Amino acid sequence: MDIGVYLMGRKLDVRIMIGAGVCKTFEELVTATKSPCGGIVGGSGTVDERWVHEGETFHWNGYRSVNSLGLPNPGLRYYFEHLKLMVNHAHDHGKAFHFSIAGNTADEFVTMAELARDAKVDCIEVNLGCPNIWSVDRRQQQILTYQPWSVYNILTSIREEAPKVQISAKFSPHFDRSLLEETALLFRKEPELINAVVVMNTVPNVRPLKPNGSLLLVPEVNGYCGLGGPAIMEIGLGQVAMWRSELPRTVQITGMGGVSSGQDVVDYVHAGADAVAMTSFVIKSGDIDPGAVERVVMEFVDLVDKDNESIKGV
Ligand SMILES: Cc1cc2nc3c(=O)[nH]c(=O)nc-3n(C[C@H](O)[C@H](O)[C@H](O)COP(=O)(O)O)c2cc1C
Repeated sequence: MDIGVYLMGRKLDVRIMIGAGVCKTFEELVTATKSPCGGIVGGSGTVDERWVHEGETFHWNGYRSVNSLGLPNPGLRYYFEHLKLMVNHAHDHGKAFHFSIAGNTADEFVTMAELARDAKVDCIEVNLGCPNIWSVDRRQQQILTYQPWSVYNILTSIREEAPKVQISAKFSPHFDRSLLEETALLFRKEPELINAVVVMNTVPNVRPLKPNGSLLLVPEVNGYCGLGGPAIMEIGLGQVAMWRSELPRTVQITGMGGVSSGQDVVDYVHAGADAVAMTSFVIKSGDIDPGAVERVVMEFVDLVDKDNESIKGV
């Protein structure tokens, strides 16, 4: 097993990335680049600026994160001014820079994709799995992952505007394998549509409670939220293995969900991932912790250096 990897044509010195949700602004990116990760996913960014839901929106208890942030980000105007700077800063520090985009409509996805294309990001990551967008009348927006034809239409529209850009599609976990197969079939029929898949987004619609039965996170979204961290690690391994067996070999996979150790990285690679990303473990204290990334990278490097039998052959 190699420490680094070629991901969509660009060499990552270390195949560990910081996942979406950590770096929404230039300042956050500057902190993240102090870590020894091989690449960073900025965003998710949307056309309109979005604010964090009111009240407590994130909780980490050592083995899981729950969050109902609601995709806060400074929006198109901010990224118009700062995205190129973010790309350059990441590259100056030897890291790949992917930008995650989200939207309410295909047109909004395309607008964000055009911006990312013009800023020359290494990859546009299309977020098809945010569970935390709710309307004012407290109805949850459709999770695109579970609508294969919406996925197809959005990716087709983006590909038309960005024919030469690397595109990855990020999915929520599929608990119905036939739905995953249906989506993968679209990619087998049109292999140029995407270059990579990122699995997975948080496990949607969990509802943590306090010991007294009240909601742990804000009632603004009825207490529902996305689950991340080590508690979802094996779900992620299953998702990566299923996608690997269904996708054409040309489509690479970034595995994520629960990574908090070097062994977790090894496990994801064994499951079929080319690269691995982490979010919850990097921001578990509320702030970005470059030291957490460093620990995982050091453990992974140690495991690879020892070249023990269990990690050979990948
Ligand atoms: C606080 C927080 C914010 C997140 N924001 C985003 C986001 O903006 N876009 C996205 O695609 N995923 C987002 N995610 C999902 C993560 O990128 C990741 O897919 C998921 O949390 C599983 O990985 P983990 O166990 O390493 O956290 C967020 C996760 C957390 C915990």
